[in-house]
Amino acid sequence: ATGLAAAAEAQGRYFGVAYATAHAGDSTYSGIAGSQFDMVTPENEMKWDTTEPSAGNFNYGPGDQVVAFAQAHSERVRGHNLVWHQQIPGWVTGLSGTAAKTAMENHITNEVTHYKGKIYAWDVVNEPFNDDGSYRTDVFYNAFGGGVQYIADALRTAHAADPNAKLYVNDYNIEGAGAKADAMYSLAQQLLQQGAPLNGIGFETHLAVQYGFPTNMQQNMARFANLGLDVAVTELDVRMTLPETSSQDSTQSTYYTNVINACKAISRCVGWTVWGVSDNYSWVPSTFSGQGAPLLWNSNEQQKPLYTTVLNAL
Ligand code: XIL
Repeated sequence: ATGLAAAAEAQGRYFGVAYATAHAGDSTYSGIAGSQFDMVTPENEMKWDTTEPSAGNFNYGPGDQVVAFAQAHSERVRGHNLVWHQQIPGWVTGLSGTAAKTAMENHITNEVTHYKGKIYAWDVVNEPFNDDGSYRTDVFYNAFGGGVQYIADALRTAHAADPNAKLYVNDYNIEGAGAKADAMYSLAQQLLQQGAPLNGIGFETHLAVQYGFPTNMQQNMARFANLGLDVAVTELDVRMTLPETSSQDSTQSTYYTNVINACKAISRCVGWTVWGVSDNYSWVPSTFSGQGAPLLWNSNEQQKPLYTTVLNAL
């Protein structure tokens, strides 16, 4: 490994990237993704709307392409994701009761079995909480009659299909102290108490210059690690209001550095993943109007000074 990955590996961690097959033909993009990182998360290719667009019809072509890319460059894969309220097909949201439970378990079993042995860690359940710490009352919550219930069942189902994959619950706005982080902490405690096969918590870490840095991020992540869980930064980016300014760049550098340092201070923090290579392909501008420039390479796919900042912080 070179660059970011080499620096992470020197401390027993990894440095990963969200990779999208849509840009595979861009040789600059693929060159960076294939050399600077040692972990790959498929940006969309393993989500339910792609992998099981209609009931029982599985489509693993795009996800397989991501795994092949990773393996060709000696990188590992974080599977993302099995159960989420977004990017699920209409046939799933239309289900209830036993039919919904069966669909969830069948989906997990099929997908995890397909990728058995090829996935370092799965985001088994993605974004189960609202920002106030209440559970999202999605189709899975409703079918199982509660958050802990469907999440425990999803973890057990995934574990049965690939006992060696690390199993995560992943969410955003849980990086700093607050109601949502407390809700995740309580969920983790309850799952462990009942013996559910939970191995880690993913902290997405989609930050914004204008919102401030999460309160006590290191201490907050550490309390999860102290439960005996791995913790990871799974979708790091730091957006700003366009146009990019040197003052925002400076805050962005500080936030990236703080995120690197928070993980480094926690022995159970296994690594970082940035949510994309370069600003031109980032999900930010199309999701947050007027926002952008969140990544380490710019829109011309050239390294920003931020790249060196992050490399030096590692
Ligand atoms: C985003 C992708 O980056 C976009 O391409 C897609 O249109 C929507 O999803 N939290 C997650 C990721 O867990 O799966 C999301 O990825 C970003 C927010």
